[in-house]
Amino acid sequence: MTDLVIRDATILDGNGGASWVGDVAVEAGRIVAIGAIGGLSGAQEIAADGLILAPGFIDTHAHDDGAFLRYPDMTFKLAQGVTTTVSGNCGFSAIPAAPGNAAASGGLLGRLGGDFSDLDGYFAAVMERAPAINNLMLVGHNTVREHVMGLDSRAPTAAELMTMRTHVEHAMAQGACGFSTGLIYRPGRFSTTEEVVELAAAVRPWDGLYTTHMRNEGDGLLEAVAETLDIGRKTGLHVHISHHKAAGQNNWGKVRDSLAAVDLALAAGQAVTLDVYPYTAGSGRMIEYFNLERPNRALAEVIRIASCPAFREFEGRMLKDIAAERSLPIEDAVRLILTAPRGDQTLCIHFIIDEADIETNLRHTDMMVGSDGIPDLRGRPHPRLYGTFPRILAHYVRQRGVLSLPEAIRRMTSLPASVFGLVDRGQVRVGAHADLVLFDAATVQDTATYDDPQRLPTGIHTVIVNGRIAFAGGQNTAAGAGRMLRYRRSAWGERE
Ligand code: ZN
Ligand code: CU
Repeated sequence: MTDLVIRDATILDGNGGASWVGDVAVEAGRIVAIGAIGGLSGAQEIAADGLILAPGFIDTHAHDDGAFLRYPDMTFKLAQGVTTTVSGNCGFSAIPAAPGNAAASGGLLGRLGGDFSDLDGYFAAVMERAPAINNLMLVGHNTVREHVMGLDSRAPTAAELMTMRTHVEHAMAQGACGFSTGLIYRPGRFSTTEEVVELAAAVRPWDGLYTTHMRNEGDGLLEAVAETLDIGRKTGLHVHISHHKAAGQNNWGKVRDSLAAVDLALAAGQAVTLDVYPYTAGSGRMIEYFNLERPNRALAEVIRIASCPAFREFEGRMLKDIAAERSLPIEDAVRLILTAPRGDQTLCIHFIIDEADIETNLRHTDMMVGSDGIPDLRGRPHPRLYGTFPRILAHYVRQRGVLSLPEAIRRMTSLPASVFGLVDRGQVRVGAHADLVLFDAATVQDTATYDDPQRLPTGIHTVIVNGRIAFAGGQNTAAGAGRMLRYRRSAWGERE
């Protein structure tokens, strides 16, 4: 008798090959048998006829550092079939934090509300809350820099640079998987390439990753890709480009050129991967996108308010409609929101991406999927928080045929697991951790929309985390089986 047996599933093992029908047995959190499992029975049994059984999805681009403390049930990810997230992206991480005041990371994370200063402390604080899914962490440049230098717009002194390096090394020693930057945001944007190289190089002894929200994703996209590849060459690190896109209508189509630059680097032996979210809108902290002296009008026109503590009535509305209603020039509507008390906490959604570019991205064999969801559940978050993975399966696989189902599963499982050092995850094989999702390929569908973003997808039948049934029958089972994962390199090219 084993803990769990899944019968007659259509198995996609995560490696990209064709499916086959078989049984899977799970014991003590691991897969112990696949295929002909003989007379084995399970304390729990799932009849999976007609359902796909795949490794649980890995969200390579999450901002869930604070969510693991505030919403440890993590239903918005779990219900999509996500069993592991990589948090600490775009240069914002829960750690390092000032002891007793784990709010230093600010940025996209909001107040964290834990009492910890480093990764060990953060992991312990999360585990006390029995999280539903697994999490791996990056250490963020913006957070480290703000912790050491505040929001100063200047180069660090030699002593400050050394202190920043020490924080990065400390996080790596405790199990972070790499160093992330968000060079479009404060204070990262005040840094030179040399500063980033110095700090990224600190993860080298652990063979960590360099992940980046690049300095420019619009007019300067190609220069930013060149800077990123240069940082990879100078440090010898695996480079992962976050939410690859060409922002702004005049730049649409440029992702082909930046992917060509990536392909050249790959051909030259450099390790590079990327991720993308399957939506034509981005989202972030509104104050980061505007100069209040001269607000960018074109950007203001395509902004929708997601979450706004100063004006809750604006949530879910286009900024241009708010401006028209109040007979304000749109620049003044930007100022009204951002200069109000707590206006700097406003999150916005901006429609800046071309649909054709998303498909171009998804056709690239080293393209993973990252939600970039921002888990502020008080407003109307970008629907990617609840819909990303089902949307790939429904829209880009089933409806558009941009990639095959086995290939989509590979990009969301074994590929990220191999790059992010998730040993024994991301595959259905004997000995692997039983992080699994059962779904109906014919009906799986995201249902979250910009108007109604907090809706769970349909067609996700069961989600299993570390061998425990975590989601079934449309419900979170409160299994609390997630773990905080420490990075162990499984080198690029040497997939297990
Ligand atoms: Zn970002
Ligand atoms: Cu991000």
